[in-house]
Amino acid sequence: MYILPDDSIFEIIARVAEREEVEAYVIGGYVRDYILGREHPEKDIDIVVLGDGVRMARNVAREIGHGTKVTVFKTFGTAMFRSGIYEIEFVGARKESYSSNSRKPAISPGSIEDDQNRRDFTINALAISLNRKNFGEVIDPFGGLHDIKNKILRTPLDPEATFSDDPLRMMRAIRFASQLDFTISDETLASIKRNAERIRIVSAERITVELNKIIATKSPSKGFMLLEETDLLPVILPELSRLRGVEDKEGKGHKDNFHHTLMVLDNVASGSEDIWLRWTALLHDIAKPITKKFVQGIGWTFHGHEFIGAKMVPEIFSRLKLPLNDRMRYVRKLVGLHLRPIALVQDEVTDSAVRRLLFEAGDDIDDLMLLCEADITSGNRMKVRKHRENFALVRRKLKEIEEKDAIRTFQPPVHGDEIISAFGIKPGPVVGIIKTAIKDAILDGVIPNEHEAARMYMLEKGKELGLTPG
Ligand code: CTP
Repeated sequence: MYILPDDSIFEIIARVAEREEVEAYVIGGYVRDYILGREHPEKDIDIVVLGDGVRMARNVAREIGHGTKVTVFKTFGTAMFRSGIYEIEFVGARKESYSSNSRKPAISPGSIEDDQNRRDFTINALAISLNRKNFGEVIDPFGGLHDIKNKILRTPLDPEATFSDDPLRMMRAIRFASQLDFTISDETLASIKRNAERIRIVSAERITVELNKIIATKSPSKGFMLLEETDLLPVILPELSRLRGVEDKEGKGHKDNFHHTLMVLDNVASGSEDIWLRWTALLHDIAKPITKKFVQGIGWTFHGHEFIGAKMVPEIFSRLKLPLNDRMRYVRKLVGLHLRPIALVQDEVTDSAVRRLLFEAGDDIDDLMLLCEADITSGNRMKVRKHRENFALVRRKLKEIEEKDAIRTFQPPVHGDEIISAFGIKPGPVVGIIKTAIKDAILDGVIPNEHEAARMYMLEKGKELGLTPG
C-alpha cells in the first residue's frame, strides 16, 4: 500500500535523503494518526534514517533555510527542529541485541525492520518510505494496517519482551485503547496482567502523563476498568482500587463505589473537558472505604468521607507528582464540598445556607454543581428525577442570591486597617473577631454586602467588645 502525505516537508526530506544517499522513513505516531485520519493541530513527526540521524537533521534544516535551528540530544543520538506546525525528530535506525550475560541490550545501527521491532505496538511500528525508489510505500512487517482496521492493540514481538524493555508500555496500551477505542489483544492483555507489578520501576511522572491522557478521553471509565482488570490500578492508585466491591450485612448492601465513581467520571467528562474537574470526580468518594460503618437499623454509612477524602488529596497528588498548586487546592476543595448542595436541599434551602455555599465554593460553584449532578447515578428513575428537581431549585436559589448579594467573589467590605484606625487599637486577635462577625452577618443576611452597613455593624460589635471609636 502507498500513502503520500501531502506536505512539502516530506518532499524536502526525500530530496536530501537522495542527495546524501541515505534511506529515510516516517515512523510511529504520525503514520498511525495519518492513517486513522486523526486531527492533530500540532504534531511530532519521527523520521528514522539508515545512517546518521543528527547529520540528516542538520542537512534537512539547511535545505529548509529560514534559520531553522537544530537541537541535538547527544545521549539519545537524536536531533530535532521545528518547522511550521511540526516538531520533527531524526534518529538513526537501531538494532538491539541481547547477550546471555547481560540484561541490557547492545545498541547498534540497524535496518528499518530492526527499528520497527523495538517499538511498542504494531500500529506504532508502521513506517512510510521517503525514498525515491518507493516513495510513500507503507512498510508494515507486523500487520499494523490490519490491526488499525480491526481496532486492535498488539505488540510486534512477544509482549513479555516489549513490556520488559519499558513497563510504561503497559499503561500506553491502555491509554491508546481508551483514546482510540481499540481492543487490547488477549495475549497482550494477559501479559500486562502478568507483569503489572513491574510498573513500580517506572517514574511517577511518566505514569501520570499516561494517567492524565486516560482521564482526558471521551469515556475515561474504559481506561480505568482496564487498569483495574490488569491489576495496574492497585499499584498506581490503590485508594481507587479499594473502592471496588459490595458488602452485605443483615440483608443490607451498599453500592460498588468503584463503578459508581467511574460513572460519575464519565458523567463529568460528558459535561467538561477540564481534567482537574475529572480528577475531582475520580477522588470524590476516595475516603469511603476508611469511613465505612454498619449501623444497626440504618445500614451502611460513610460519615465524614468528604472531609477525610479532601485531606487525602495532597498526599495522592504528591505521590503521583501532580502539581501541588492551585489545581490541587481546587480538587481538595471540591472533594470536601461535594455533599453540600445535596445537604442544602435535604434541609430547608435557606438564603443563609446558599450564601455560605457560594462563599466557600467561590468561582468554582458551577463546577461543584456539575460534579453533584454527575454524582446522581441511581438506577431508580423516581429518585433521579427528584434529585434533579432539587438541584434545579438550588441552581435557581444560587442565581437569585448571587445577583442580589455578589458573594461568589466575596471581599470583606471592611478591612483590618479600617477596624484598627476606627478604634485606635493595635493589630491583634480582636481585629479578626470583628472581621469574622462582619462576614457572618453578611452570610446570614443580617446586613447587606455593602461598606456602609458593614461599617455600622463594626462600630456596634466594637462597642459590645468594650471598644470606643476614635
Ligand atoms: N515508542 C515506543 N515505546 C515507548 C514510547 C514510544 O516504542 N515507551 C515509540 C512508538 O513507535 C511511538 C513512537 O515511539 O509511536 C513515538 O512515541 P510518542 O511520541 O511517545 O507517542 P506517539 O505514538 O507519537 O503518540 P502520542 O503523541 O499520542 O503520545
